[in-house]
Amino acid sequence: MMAIINDILDLSKIEAGQFELDIADFDLCDTIEQASAAASFEARAKGLALEVRFSEEVPSQARGDSRRLHQILLNLVANAVKFTANGSVVVAVTSRPGVGNDALVRVQVSDTGIGIDPKSLERMFEPFTQADASTTRNYGGTGLGLAIARELVQRMGGTIGATSEPDRGSTFWFELPLEPASRHADERHAAAALAAHAH
Ligand SMILES: Nc1ncnc2c1ncn2[C@@H]1O[C@H](COP(=O)(O)OP(=O)(O)OP(=O)(O)O)[C@@H](O)[C@H]1O
Ligand SMILES: [Mg+2]
Repeated sequence: MMAIINDILDLSKIEAGQFELDIADFDLCDTIEQASAAASFEARAKGLALEVRFSEEVPSQARGDSRRLHQILLNLVANAVKFTANGSVVVAVTSRPGVGNDALVRVQVSDTGIGIDPKSLERMFEPFTQADASTTRNYGGTGLGLAIARELVQRMGGTIGATSEPDRGSTFWFELPLEPASRHADERHAAAALAAHAH
């Protein structure tokens, strides 16, 4: 109940523009690993493999709102685990150059679950929308996760989408422009080394 109320409040705040992004340097790989790991208990309980793959061009540090990135990805991974009975959930992260120095980071969550009729796929991003009347009965939930994810991705200047094949699985993805970290990893390492030296 608390989770539902929180989701509703969160979505209304975001929709009303009553929230600000909290932009800071962060560890992109850590954030993605942690958001995925938050669903690993559930995955293990169902006997599902949960894998995270990073392409080598993905920057390890970036600048953006890591808490919101975590929230978006967790919603997608939690869905993937919830709607999959057998097989695997794979989180794949790639990156390509964006505008200026931005990296366009793409996070893709693929599952081997129940899938969705491609005709109703776009509707799933609307608040309180689920595939059909049996969804709440069988899987719980309120149909807010994807609506929140879409709002957040759009506020962050990114795009979100999905492809799916009923009974075969789904792929939900989002792409976000992320600024490079303001301090380079080398500088940070140097600073850390200096600090360690001072002790
Ligand atoms: N990976 C997926 N596989 C199959 N169907 C999915 C998947 N992700 C989402 N859906 C469909 O889209 C609907 C909307 O997803 P959304 O995350 O918004 O709501 P929910 O998971 O049902 O509830 P909530 O996220 O509020 O707990 C789901 O009810 C389900 O029908
Ligand atoms: Mg959900």
